Amino acid sequence: MARIPVAILGATGAVGQRFIQLLDGHPWFEVAVITASERSEGRRYGEACRWMLEGEMPSRVRDMILRPSTPEAVDCPLAFSALPSSVPGSVEEELARAGVTVCSNASTHRTDPDVPILIAELNPDHLGLLDVQRRRRGWRGYLVTGPNCTSVPVAVVLRALDRAFGVRHAHVVSLQALSGAGYPGVPSLDILDNVIPFIAAEETKVESEPRKILGRLEGESIALAPFAISAQCNRVQVRDGHLVCLSIGLARRAALSEVTEALRSYRGEIADLDLPSAPQPLVVVREEPDRPQPWRDRDAGGGMAIVVGRVQPCPVNDIKLVALSHNTIRGAAGGLILIAELLRARGLLEAGR
Ligand SMILES: NC(=O)c1ccc[n+]([C@@H]2O[C@H](COP(=O)([O-])OP(=O)(O)OC[C@H]3O[C@@H](n4cnc5c(N)ncnc54)[C@H](OP(=O)(O)O)[C@@H]3O)[C@@H](O)[C@H]2O)c1
Repeated sequence: MARIPVAILGATGAVGQRFIQLLDGHPWFEVAVITASERSEGRRYGEACRWMLEGEMPSRVRDMILRPSTPEAVDCPLAFSALPSSVPGSVEEELARAGVTVCSNASTHRTDPDVPILIAELNPDHLGLLDVQRRRRGWRGYLVTGPNCTSVPVAVVLRALDRAFGVRHAHVVSLQALSGAGYPGVPSLDILDNVIPFIAAEETKVESEPRKILGRLEGESIALAPFAISAQCNRVQVRDGHLVCLSIGLARRAALSEVTEALRSYRGEIADLDLPSAPQPLVVVREEPDRPQPWRDRDAGGGMAIVVGRVQPCPVNDIKLVALSHNTIRGAAGGLILIAELLRARGLLEAGR
């Protein structure tokens, strides 16, 4: 089977590099176009990109030339966007209008009512919004977004517990890795020997995005999940892997063993599709008292699993626990590649270009 040519927009950044790494040897997709800012356009990838990941830069991209993110230059049916949110949203819109299916990491369009925020295992039914989007906007392609990286472990845990017991509310404290700030990110003298209790706009995203993801598709829009989430977000000096400490109020009382079992057995909605990037299992539950840890656990399931531990009774709410997710894999490039695999499995990549 011929592989589908894909573009990576913002291919030189922290997330762009993960796309390059994860798509190297992918069974369905092949990197055909790479883009970056005007500073890098026209340059060879190997020259313009400061490779920050473990292992070598894949040799087949080394000599590829960076292009602009225009419909003329992005002559592929599928584009993965790792553009900063500061880049005008019209860049992604123009591509979708021209027939490209755009899977985006940027926050720009996540709040648009006709744009789904997808975690492939949790809300594949929200793909129903794509017909609405096309009709309203007159596009030949689609725009699908992935969530903010910290929203991922929060949404997965809440979905598993909501299905089993009902969720009333949740409080989240995050400890977020440096790669979440992109490259070069936080200055070293600000973060060494330090924790920064502020990440711009992050708390609002963590309080709202899981509610859209876990909401119900009703007609032509998403009705938000009815529970409140309170979030406090911190930057810590860890390279990759966001840890979240959650305290959760449940609708019905549950024993610790029931909570653990609900998390361990949660499979999501697409397990039967056997998609190449889907982790098996989705949730890994660790029993040791000092896990999960970013350095030890972030690569579970190829960086696509959510690792949960420290499940305990909470004296304020019903239950508290710690969850970990790899921010540039599960929380960005890997999560978007899984969404594209789902689109292909559903026949949604055949439309457009
Ligand atoms: N890092 C994470 O863990 C994470 C997780 C989820 C979502 N996200 C989102 O993913 C996106 C990318 O994040 P990142 O951390 O990879 O950022 P980054 O390291 O700063 O990379 C940004 C990329 O976009 C390119 N770029 C910058 N300005 C541009 C412009 N005006 N036109 C075209 N390309 C431009 C850069 O190219 P040059 O090399 O030429 O500057 C680079 O390739 C952001 O929207 C971010 O919020 C990030």
